[in-house]
Amino acid sequence: MELHILEHRLRVASIAKESIQLFTYGLIKLAFLSSKTRCKFFSLTETPEDYTIIVDEEGFLELPSSEHLSVADATWLALNVVSGGGGFSGSQPIGVTKIAKSVIAPLADQNISVFMLSTYQTDFILVRERDLPFVMHTLAAEFTILRVVNGETVAADDLGITNGFVKPKLVQRPVIHPLSSPSNMFCVTSLDPDTLPTVATLLMDVMFYSNGVKESVVGNEDSGHIRFFSFSLIEGYISLVMDVQTQQRFPNNLLFTSASGELWKMVRIGGQPLGFDECGIVAQISEPLAAADIPAYYISTFKFDHALVPEENINGVVNALQVSQAEKH
Ligand code: ARG
Repeated sequence: MELHILEHRLRVASIAKESIQLFTYGLIKLAFLSSKTRCKFFSLTETPEDYTIIVDEEGFLELPSSEHLSVADATWLALNVVSGGGGFSGSQPIGVTKIAKSVIAPLADQNISVFMLSTYQTDFILVRERDLPFVMHTLAAEFTILRVVNGETVAADDLGITNGFVKPKLVQRPVIHPLSSPSNMFCVTSLDPDTLPTVATLLMDVMFYSNGVKESVVGNEDSGHIRFFSFSLIEGYISLVMDVQTQQRFPNNLLFTSASGELWKMVRIGGQPLGFDECGIVAQISEPLAAADIPAYYISTFKFDHALVPEENINGVVNALQVSQAEKH
């Protein structure tokens, strides 16, 4: 298996709901007029708390610097697992459940913090650029590590880290943070970039005008329904994660869903904002899912983490994670 270290240098930022209007000029350009930018990695996720933006350096320049934009103080690199030996065709990205044991757990064992972004197409594991030597050392045994340089995939240089690695002790990894499960059903979809213009006004409505602080507050205490919408445009591929109510606003047959047309339910992780330094949160959730062979998407946002599991598995997953949670001391 290959681990690709992508060349995008990413920033992770948060925009307060009430300040979104200050940024829409740049965000519309990044999402809908990307050919006018040099951005190749852009994702925007709306939660009840805020908008989380993950964007490369080039795209970051499209946003005004403002006190209303909180930026995590690190540059992140995206890792991507590619199965099969081929360079391009035939390489199949695999799900977050399948990388739990080979990538997520080993990084957690070495206290390396990650930030996850699952999309329709693949799962990106973001790591801080400064942690890269440790990441490569940790994963070198399992993977052929390749770096993308100027769009070409090349062998990654050995960064020569040999010291300071302790063998991970095989400890239990209880779930530390509080969990909740909103009532929404979600779908994970994609869109042909050529049809983006036909739904641009709808997407602008969904992304910037459909919520208001009001709805999310009412939704929260009302029925457990939350505001969650994620758009990403990464290397020309669009991914959309939305609830079924939002999906119904789209014209029929425009959005691609996986053949099984599955619906997903969410486990939200975190009571207090999770920050960026703590390790092992993704591992705590994804390892039990992997053990039970339950597919999952995983989306980290500025404050909280979100796992999506098939709707028929949600009760079992929540129960199992709560048992794990009870085991913490
Ligand atoms: N750093 C966490 C981990 O390594 C995941 C990200 C949590 N933080 C966040 N702001 N969503 O498991």
